[in-house]
Amino acid sequence: MSDYSPVKVSGFKAIDQDHRSLFDLINKLMQDDPDQQDLFDIIKALHAYAAEHFDREFQLMVACDFPAEMKQEHLLDHARFSNRISQFTDLINSDSSRAVTELDKLVQAAKAEAGIDQVDHASPARQIAAYLTQWLIRHTNQMDQKLFDFIKQTGFDASKVNF
Ligand SMILES: [Fe+2]
Ligand SMILES: [Fe+2]
Repeated sequence: MSDYSPVKVSGFKAIDQDHRSLFDLINKLMQDDPDQQDLFDIIKALHAYAAEHFDREFQLMVACDFPAEMKQEHLLDHARFSNRISQFTDLINSDSSRAVTELDKLVQAAKAEAGIDQVDHASPARQIAAYLTQWLIRHTNQMDQKLFDFIKQTGFDASKVNF
């Protein structure tokens, strides 16, 4: 596991560990520029890991009585991310000759939806990695941070949550 993480450290051990592991998986896409099968395997692993992580954050929200409106906004962002990863997986899996063009469109739509920078026209793995990286940094530093701030303000004892 790498020491570097571009997201703020929350102080919640399980959550911070998740964020670092998610970045390590994304880094694999950047460093290895994998072939189609490896790409598919990494995206699948990311999908599963993100689901586990989102569930941990959900448990934390319920336990600390996070206000409904903020909870809904946060969960919606998680759902959008999971849906996008499913779309990437489906497309890579479809083995279509148009997959690269379609992927380019999909990544651009995903980034526009998430309000992040436009993509360059790199390989599919790098385009997906760019989207995932930017989404994770933005989501963690904004949405997750609101949850951590709320916990701090209310003095909720997060060690009570059994992850
Ligand atoms: Fe998170
Ligand atoms: Fe989150």
